[in-house]
Amino acid sequence: MSQDSFADAVLRWYDLHGRKDLPWQRDMTPYRVWVSEIMLQQTQVATVIHYYERFMAALPDVQALAAAPADEVLHLWTGLGYYSRARNLHKAAQRVVDEYGGDFPRDLQLLIDLPGIGPSTAGAIASLSMGLRAPILDGNVKRVLARYHAVQGWPGEKVVHDRLWAIAERHTPHVRVNHYTQAMMDMGATLCTRSKPTCLVCPLQAGCEARMLGAPTAYPESRPRKSIPVRQCLMPLVVNPQGDVWLQRRPDSGLWGGLWCPPQLDDHAQLDALLARQGWQADEPQALEPLRHTFSHFHLDIQPLLVRVTADHGVAESGQVWYNLRQPTRLGLAAPVKKLLQRTELII
Ligand code: ADE
Repeated sequence: MSQDSFADAVLRWYDLHGRKDLPWQRDMTPYRVWVSEIMLQQTQVATVIHYYERFMAALPDVQALAAAPADEVLHLWTGLGYYSRARNLHKAAQRVVDEYGGDFPRDLQLLIDLPGIGPSTAGAIASLSMGLRAPILDGNVKRVLARYHAVQGWPGEKVVHDRLWAIAERHTPHVRVNHYTQAMMDMGATLCTRSKPTCLVCPLQAGCEARMLGAPTAYPESRPRKSIPVRQCLMPLVVNPQGDVWLQRRPDSGLWGGLWCPPQLDDHAQLDALLARQGWQADEPQALEPLRHTFSHFHLDIQPLLVRVTADHGVAESGQVWYNLRQPTRLGLAAPVKKLLQRTELII
């Protein structure tokens, strides 16, 4: 079967840039690769190296691990965290010795049946140490594939996850699967990073759909936020003939506590009441571009209104201010209010 251009590009990159000198890349037995993959599940390469060398010096093969006291295994794991990984490692070693005579099974499903080995770890062990054509899909590889194919949706959803596995399966080459697997991990960790991918040096840039869409970091999508309610308000930007905007200090407790803000109103009747109370003569309110501000538990859709008051017979009381946009006093302003005041300055 011919290999696809995706795998060819990945393998060419491996030859030039792939990591070839990590401790678990020397003498790649299933045991050595397995221990490294378990250590690397939740821990960075730089941290793992020292623990790995020490572990291998103490327990150089699966028989030694199976025969070791549990305390010794946990001692060697001290500092790596997630100790269930060490307990599972120990149990799996005993099963490999008891059930398989010390030889890891050359079968993905049998590997997955061992404690602590999921489908991606099984794929890594099988491809890196046995040369079996097996896909992997760890977090780094998910990112590379989701971007390359602009896969929509959150990978925590079964349909998205299944789709990524199908893609991983399709691209996995029939030759040099060990190099391909290592390169995919390395590319995900070093080029196709979560927030600042270096697409210009990526061997997959020409075919990457997320890059073509101009939005590599939009993939994979993150966990959808629970839907939150939308509230609406009117926010009159009351401007006096000098071009100052009327702000009120909000109560200390509650939303935007202690910050300065235009009035936040439910409807036009409340606006009429405000104008009457303040003794303001005003032109017809002018609706400005709406603005959405999202709090942790709701969206606030703000309809700003430009309200030019032609005469102000009142005096600003404490907790109220005519805010000079050109020489602003140093007040605390909520982010959307700051934005609205900047917009107001441009149009008055
Ligand atoms: N992360 C998981 N497996 C790895 C490997 N073999 N090399 C580098 N990083 C990894």
